[in-house]
Amino acid sequence: MRTRILISLAFVATTSLFASYANADNHGADIVIRVGPGDSKVGYDTKDYKTDSRAISARVGEQTDLLKFVKNPPLGLPPIPQPERNPITDEKIQLGKKLFFDRRLSLNDTFSCAMCHIPEQGFTSHEVVKAVGVEGRSGRRNSPTIYNVAYLTRLFHDGRESTLENQVWSPLLDHREMAMTSIGHVLGKINSLKEYEGEFERAFDGRPVDIETLGQALASYQRVLVSGNSPFDRWYYAKEEKAISVQAKNGFKLFMGKAHCATCHVVREDHALFTDNAMHNTGIGYERSMGKEPEAVRMPIAPGIFAMVKQSHLDELGHTGPIGDLGFYEVTQDPDDRWKYRTPSLRNVALTAPYMHDGSILTLEGVVEFYNKGGIPNVTQSPLIRPLDLTSEEMNNLVAFLETLTGDNVVELISDAYSTPVGDTVVE
Ligand code: HEC
Ligand code: HEC
Repeated sequence: MRTRILISLAFVATTSLFASYANADNHGADIVIRVGPGDSKVGYDTKDYKTDSRAISARVGEQTDLLKFVKNPPLGLPPIPQPERNPITDEKIQLGKKLFFDRRLSLNDTFSCAMCHIPEQGFTSHEVVKAVGVEGRSGRRNSPTIYNVAYLTRLFHDGRESTLENQVWSPLLDHREMAMTSIGHVLGKINSLKEYEGEFERAFDGRPVDIETLGQALASYQRVLVSGNSPFDRWYYAKEEKAISVQAKNGFKLFMGKAHCATCHVVREDHALFTDNAMHNTGIGYERSMGKEPEAVRMPIAPGIFAMVKQSHLDELGHTGPIGDLGFYEVTQDPDDRWKYRTPSLRNVALTAPYMHDGSILTLEGVVEFYNKGGIPNVTQSPLIRPLDLTSEEMNNLVAFLETLTGDNVVELISDAYSTPVGDTVVE
């Protein structure tokens, strides 16, 4: 069956929106990959308008053998690291996948991991700059992609977590994400769901769901979401001359040389993770912290009635302006670590807009312009971020290169995701 891939690009700056269609033979499902924030609103007022959002009934896919990536990692990627205490098995992957998509893991049965890490949106969210969780509560950071998280030795933008096994408790218990009230609350809820009866025992040699096995199952699914064998990999590692354009090859030269991106987004002889797993200050966080607050804010004072309130009055009431974000400093308490964030991988970066820890840059062109002007200078900024003096042609080449990093299995992984139930959505 033919798969329709809808690639829709939203150019926010010009507010012009358009969509282009491409066909690919793959894996049954009618897959839509979104590459820009928001539905295209062209023709919104006509009866022919079609939304890209999917009804749950239209979410049909084919299960794939994810264990094959453990035996044979995609070109350009090293073997998937496996912790001694949690070797990857198919039972754990399938159980972890079921949990990842299950909305009942949240306080009010509405919010799964996959609702911020949306498969058809690069396992991130295009439609919001910062994550929005249960009951529309806003977070302070952008949802990162789950592709290739197996290779990250520091997790979260501020690098505060070190294993996928432990990481799961942050979103499960965060008031602004899935808002479960305690570890016992989560375990008790899973225990009460008949679909999980005997499942943990089967995957973990008789062990039930507990503080350790829950993280181990979710980690096992996320660990196999590896995506490589991109056009770049086929050119660079398999020496397929025609896999990428001359423009992208020139972009790669700049990436490794004049623009020195690879100092942090590392490329090696036999594989490339495009991250050094280290913390750096590019200036994004600094700008946010120093951002000027508006003098007056529009406040709802009764349903439908608004008043302009002076910021200084609001400040007296306690919470001032946007929630602060000091990056790695929040972990180390060392002033030199203010506004440092972990280098993200750039694999599949064309699918993971908006960019940076706060989602403040909407396009790859915008990111390259940001680096070209030397980021935002501040006391703890990395000395590696400095004006690059790139011509507009060189900046276009860099973007063309970044667009060659999309893995060849993204449609397969989305289809596999669609083959998983999302929990009980029928209100009884
Ligand atoms: C409300 C949206 C939301 C939900 C729900 C959510 N996440 Fe996330 N996820 C985020 C955000 C935002 C971050 C970055 C947070 C930070 O850096 O402080 C993140 C970070 C991560 C990371 C680290 C990735 C990296 O590059 O360091 C992993 C792994 C992850 N989430 C997995 C999960 C799992 C598993 C679940 C379900 C148990 C889940 N997430 C639920 C929004 C969400
Ligand atoms: C000093 C190390 C360093 C250098 C040099 C560097 N980067 Fe980054 N890059 C980072 C860090 C750290 C972030 C995350 C910043 C944040 O979240 O606020 C990042 C983020 C990005 C992102 C956004 C990815 C995402 O998923 O949000 C892109 C794209 C990117 N860099 C491309 C480049 C390019 C292209 C160059 C060269 C012009 C470059 N980087 C040079 C460290 C670096």
